[in-house]
Amino acid sequence: MRSLFLFFLLLGCSHQVRIVAPTVVQPRVAHESVAKSEMVTAQGAGTTRAALSIFQRGGNIIDAFVAASFAISVERPHSTGIGGGGFLLYYHRAENKVYAFDFREIAPLAATATMYLTKKGDPQPLLSQEGALAVANPGLVRGLFEIHRRFGSLPWKETVAPAIKLAREGFPLYEELHEALEDRREVFILDPGARSTFYTSEGRTPNLGTTIVQENLARTLELIADKGADGFYRGPVADAIIKTIRSKRGLLSYRDLRTYSMVERTPVKGSYKGLQIHSMPPPSSGGIHVIQILKMLEKHPLRSLGPQSTEAVHLTANAMQRAFLDRASYLGDPDFHPVPTKELLDERYLSRLSGSIKTRKAMKADQLKAIPLAYESSDTTHFTIADRAGNLVASTQTINGWFGSAVMAEGTGIILNNEMDDFAQKVGVQNLYGAVGGQNNLIQPRKRPLSSMSPTIITKDNGPFMALGSPSGTRIITCVAQTILNTVEFEMPLYEAVAATRIHQQWMPDVLKVEAPFLTPAVEAELREKGHQVVHEKLGCSIQAIRKTPDGWHGVSDPRGEGLALGLN
Ligand code: DON
Repeated sequence: MRSLFLFFLLLGCSHQVRIVAPTVVQPRVAHESVAKSEMVTAQGAGTTRAALSIFQRGGNIIDAFVAASFAISVERPHSTGIGGGGFLLYYHRAENKVYAFDFREIAPLAATATMYLTKKGDPQPLLSQEGALAVANPGLVRGLFEIHRRFGSLPWKETVAPAIKLAREGFPLYEELHEALEDRREVFILDPGARSTFYTSEGRTPNLGTTIVQENLARTLELIADKGADGFYRGPVADAIIKTIRSKRGLLSYRDLRTYSMVERTPVKGSYKGLQIHSMPPPSSGGIHVIQILKMLEKHPLRSLGPQSTEAVHLTANAMQRAFLDRASYLGDPDFHPVPTKELLDERYLSRLSGSIKTRKAMKADQLKAIPLAYESSDTTHFTIADRAGNLVASTQTINGWFGSAVMAEGTGIILNNEMDDFAQKVGVQNLYGAVGGQNNLIQPRKRPLSSMSPTIITKDNGPFMALGSPSGTRIITCVAQTILNTVEFEMPLYEAVAATRIHQQWMPDVLKVEAPFLTPAVEAELREKGHQVVHEKLGCSIQAIRKTPDGWHGVSDPRGEGLALGLN
């Protein structure tokens, strides 16, 4: 995987400044929209249109959410899919309440803490990244089905229909999918289903613009449309999943599939400059750390220092570093280990953390005591929806790495996730990518691996203000926090807030990543003076944001990607 490779490279030479080509910025018109009634921002035009078509048929925001989830599963098969899982944050305007739903994958019942270790106890990173052993029990279909049953208004079948059409009629091969197919080709063409769906008869990646049709997936989606969640977790689709997994010596069983359950959780919440930030609680680390970063910075005069000034970047990077130290020390699945959420978000604790930030010099990672993070790879997707009633949806969904485990359940078009790689294989030992994991994130049967996905909703005066989220592993947390800072602290218009240069510091590795279009050379030189190891690197985030306007909504799909922001009046 390209991003894994880059990460690995950077670990090996983090003292150097690496230059990567500036990200291509797509035309602004597809990425920004203003509308009175409904708004959708998603990482694919087919998905945005699928969600809008549901509103046009009289569906509500949850119907649109389900339609977008199935459509994005088709349109970004390298990022997400019904073989994966995710999180939803849902702001219900009439109740003035934010719901959080967790349909993340869980470890199979037969999983063990040592399943990826050699007899000598050495980790084997590839086993949790590729092949049937990397597959965790998928949660997406169960989650969509339960959420729709509770809040949806259109018949279930109608919400699956746009995805079936997209899979059957296809869409033109776009740049990122092309890159992912090329990147994973050697492994992925070994799977006969993947080879016949995505590659030419000679096993080559098709040209950009080639129509990608997923007929097997269309048939699977029809079964799900007819039978609901049972169309996935029981019957012929379950048979195909288990047959494939068994033939490749994976662990997932019928019992795993039958017993998967979604969990409703209480969102984490924090105030920032008079706004209420609501985000995803554990097993995501995202919400806690987005709020921590904002709270640590709240009392610092960032606005007067200026966006992307040396001092503002220095303070922000230090706040990120502090938050990631806590992530490594405390976070995991709360159903298995107590996570001190309240303590981590306690105002006095955060003010102590904030006070410990040195304004003159960067803190070295080894001056701070804790154990480093489990590595997360760089694919996933996020979409955001708003409706005329003031409801908001922010949902991040994933199969983890590009094409997940690179295993397709035979004949179904389903690409199975490699979410097991979000667990720590072992405490304190570096994996292939140079990261080590924490005690609370070791593998246990039915446990959820630690996530960084941070679907976030902001309310103001008991009404909607903004909703956003992004893909890109640990970078999600810092990209979401920076977009909020840009909007609220620096008062940037939404497009500029999303498009601006971003930084990322995650404590380990101890580098300050800066993405195109970069900071000025003078600011970067001053940051190095302060002790930051500045590297240029693509961060991979793709923020999908919607902000309330006096007349309706302003939507922005990150110009770094091929998404679409579009609304209805
Ligand atoms: O749950 C997580 O944090 C990761 N599995 C997400 C992976 C991801 O965001 C990849 N993004 N592009």
